[in-house]
Amino acid sequence: MGDEVAIGVVGAGRIGSMHAQLLAGQVAGAQLVVVADALEAPAQAVAHAHGVAATSVAAVIDDPAIDAVAICSPTETHPDLIVAAAEAGKAIFCEKPISLDLGEVERALAATRRAGVALMVGFNRRFDPAHRAVREAVADGRVGDPHLLRITSRDPAPPPLSYAAGSGGLFLDMTIHDFDMARYVAGSEVTEVFARGAIRIVPELAELGDIDTAVVTLVHENGCLTVIDNSRRATYGYDQRVEVLGSRALAASENPLEHTALVADGAGIHRSVLPSFFIERYRSSYLAQWDAFVAALRGGTAPPTTGEDGRAALVLGLAAQRSLAESRPVSPTEIVPLDPS
Ligand SMILES: NC(=O)c1ccc[n+]([C@@H]2O[C@H](COP(=O)([O-])OP(=O)(O)OC[C@H]3O[C@@H](n4cnc5c(N)ncnc54)[C@H](O)[C@@H]3O)[C@@H](O)[C@H]2O)c1
Repeated sequence: MGDEVAIGVVGAGRIGSMHAQLLAGQVAGAQLVVVADALEAPAQAVAHAHGVAATSVAAVIDDPAIDAVAICSPTETHPDLIVAAAEAGKAIFCEKPISLDLGEVERALAATRRAGVALMVGFNRRFDPAHRAVREAVADGRVGDPHLLRITSRDPAPPPLSYAAGSGGLFLDMTIHDFDMARYVAGSEVTEVFARGAIRIVPELAELGDIDTAVVTLVHENGCLTVIDNSRRATYGYDQRVEVLGSRALAASENPLEHTALVADGAGIHRSVLPSFFIERYRSSYLAQWDAFVAALRGGTAPPTTGEDGRAALVLGLAAQRSLAESRPVSPTEIVPLDPS
């Protein structure tokens, strides 16, 4: 590794183009070197925007000058890319989820262990300053014994059906962030998952076996109870709040507003809108996530969100799917990879 960590971005879509932009000039100690995509046009467009080369995915993996690969392609491509990057000795940042299939996650994690390379999973919300402050208030004891954790996570609008079809559904695509947040904030593993879900917004999701509205309750090892509520459509914007009530105090992260002005009139007190979606809301967390990745590589320490965190969140998502299907509480220990034989 030279003075800067040389990073190749693989997948130049919604999230990959944002990561490329951050890496191109905002992450100290990192350098965007190349951009690759299965399609030439997005790779060229993103590479050109940042004055770097566009190349093929295979060339990123084979290039000895590249220290780390940022996997930002669709979820089904992640395990093969992780294995290839690990076998090439590269550090890996992989967007969530690692895979929709637990066996595939285990195959990918085994490859990183064999190769001894770092793998960080993109649970960016851990790096949001407000959510992080809530976690710290639990970790340093100010909240006391955590009793209740409430996670509200609502999108402004449902994704296109074409995206939903390959996303793994609400629990594996969207709630997976909240499962990670629950483990992170409570600082305790989950022993029981109970899920209810409904279609309240997009009737066509029924054909995909998906839902757009859900409530999930979790029981943690330390006794804390978590409630997650999800919607694919909140008419007032992207709503992201976390609140923990403990034996000593309450800690909560509120939604940031677009600006702080208010207008008060006879009808009420009016504030600005919420950030429109994840890129606007979580930009600082994506940046802090890269800082943490680079610091871990340079310091030779494990990344703060590991492949095991990716595995644990997927297990909770699969447990929620089973709970919804079977209308019963499910223990994460019931979720095991399908035997490939
Ligand atoms: N952490 C977050 O907040 C967050 C937000 C959005 C998406 N994601 C995750 O990021 C991943 C990508 O999502 P997106 O919304 O950017 O998707 P997208 O469809 O916008 O972009 C994916 C890109 O990957 C390219 N691609 C397809 N197959 C490829 C392959 N085999 N090799 C290289 N490139 C390939 C496509 O051409 C496309 O340009 C998903 O796993 C998703 O779950 C994470």
